[in-house]
Amino acid sequence: MLVLEKNSITEELEALVKEHGSERSALMPILQAVQRKHRYVPDFAQQEIARLLDIHPVEVYSVISFYSFLHSEPQGRNIVRLCRTIVCDMAGKEEVEKAIKRELKISKAGETTKDKKITLEHTNCLGMCDQGPAMMVNDKIYTKLTPEKAVEIIKDIK
Ligand code: FES
Repeated sequence: MLVLEKNSITEELEALVKEHGSERSALMPILQAVQRKHRYVPDFAQQEIARLLDIHPVEVYSVISFYSFLHSEPQGRNIVRLCRTIVCDMAGKEEVEKAIKRELKISKAGETTKDKKITLEHTNCLGMCDQGPAMMVNDKIYTKLTPEKAVEIIKDIK
């Protein structure tokens, strides 16, 4: 990361601390703001947040690791979240996932395509258990997936 980028991240974080305060409770809104803007929370930003809030960097990292909507690695412009909960699993989620991974040329959930267009993730129940397998592409939910239907949806966002 260039020095200039680091300076601008520090400035951005200082502005967020002004807005949300420097208490521990400001951690989540600050992380969400950084995630929204950059689509992930870079290492340097994690260190700076820890410094500005006077907490250990491990604490920042643990919060990022705990919440599936926060990421420490760059994400694709489109996020495909495939339900991994038991009902969708039993309804054929595994075959759907294999087809998606083949189409995206990635080997596991959590990876992003080389062109940074699409990230595949697992998610817990999307509340559509009676219509599984289900997945969410950005904000839109798709149900009753088959491998073929999932590939068509992926092709549309490619
Ligand atoms: S188990 Fe997949 S939507 Fe509920």
